[in-house]
Amino acid sequence: MWGIVLKPVKVGICGLGTVGSGTFNILRNNAEEITRRVGRSIVVEQIGARQVNPTCDTTDINTTGDIFEVANNPDIDIVVELIGGTSVARELVLTAIENGKHVVTANKALIAEYGNEIFAKAQAKGVMVAFEAAVAGGIPIIKMLREGLSSNKIEWLAGIINGTGNFIMTEMSEKGRAFDDVLKEAQELGYAEADPTFDVEGIDAAHKLTILASIAYGIPLQFEKTYTEGISRITAEDVSFASELGYSIKHLGVARRTKAGVELRVHPTLISQKALLANVNGVMNAVMVKGDAVGPTLTYGAGAGAMPTGSSVVADIIDVARTLTADPTNRVPHLAFQSDQLSDAQILPMDEIECGFFLNMTIQDRAGVLANITQILSTNGISIESVIQREREGSDLVPLVVMTHDVKERNMNAAIAAIEALPDVAGSVQRIRVENLA
Ligand code: HSE
Repeated sequence: MWGIVLKPVKVGICGLGTVGSGTFNILRNNAEEITRRVGRSIVVEQIGARQVNPTCDTTDINTTGDIFEVANNPDIDIVVELIGGTSVARELVLTAIENGKHVVTANKALIAEYGNEIFAKAQAKGVMVAFEAAVAGGIPIIKMLREGLSSNKIEWLAGIINGTGNFIMTEMSEKGRAFDDVLKEAQELGYAEADPTFDVEGIDAAHKLTILASIAYGIPLQFEKTYTEGISRITAEDVSFASELGYSIKHLGVARRTKAGVELRVHPTLISQKALLANVNGVMNAVMVKGDAVGPTLTYGAGAGAMPTGSSVVADIIDVARTLTADPTNRVPHLAFQSDQLSDAQILPMDEIECGFFLNMTIQDRAGVLANITQILSTNGISIESVIQREREGSDLVPLVVMTHDVKERNMNAAIAAIEALPDVAGSVQRIRVENLA
């Protein structure tokens, strides 16, 4: 078929769990198509896994329980790290790089927290570290940001980048199911992290957002500066009031470039029910990217699961195989921008963020209470968009919901503290940020 027959590219897979099995089976099932795409075959030379996976036929493959044997195997060109976690995974990846091997990983925590160190070492060794599967599973969002949109200044991006969280929010709002019950189902389906608080408290989404923002703006990975708020405090009442006002509550990761710096935040967010992202339901992920030239774009797909995530891992293996012989200086940089051109743009503290707010509180149904609350909002420069007050039969305590126009978070913090100090306000004020995605 080809004039020169190139040697097969040899891959070592470390970890044969959900993503490992998807990767292995795609490499097997689509071997012929992959060879036609790359111009040479890709073979699994060795697997490092503690246990066999019944979904994979590994009978003819050299398998070891010691993943470091794979990283040190002189026959292997690409080490695929799919063990998860950060301590052993970091050591494994650094060992593989030290041995001059290219690395493909699906590990968002590893890249978000140790990516700066890993990329510096990879650069020094002239090897590639590819991580498409680390963000939004099967959606090629890294490729899109790093290559397809490379002519643009990225203004903002907003994504539903945790399938488990989106599945929970969708089931709660559409079927009124209990939080724990939905989480259990997501775990059984293999979507949730080993520690599901990573999904529910936004840590997983913050890892992914950190990576996206670095590629979008050419800034070092700064996971520790990403504001992270989970969905566990969202109530059925919040969902119902938001819906009455024409909004859905989604767990969004938002990165935005402003004159003062970069906003980097994960939190529950009200978005119009008419927004495309509001219709991304179940375990699905989607990322909107607004570039100055292209305008708004939207990518949608499965954010987790064996085959969708395996799809991205194998695409990375193909990319690495295609450019094995390329001069390292002519490869796409790890963080999209040349490593000596990364910017030191400030990550803005939350006080500086400006957006609309949905406030849900419980108040005494008495003359003058609403006037006191609106007075506090006005004193803090906050303009009200709408108000809902409902009767509650047999009780003087009633729910009050206020939607505001855009205001700095600092002003809202001051207003909420003053409102909570009013004797006629019971408990704390629930605050959910609002984005218009325009
Ligand atoms: N726990 C993650 C999710 C898996 O639910 O999206 C994919 O990163």
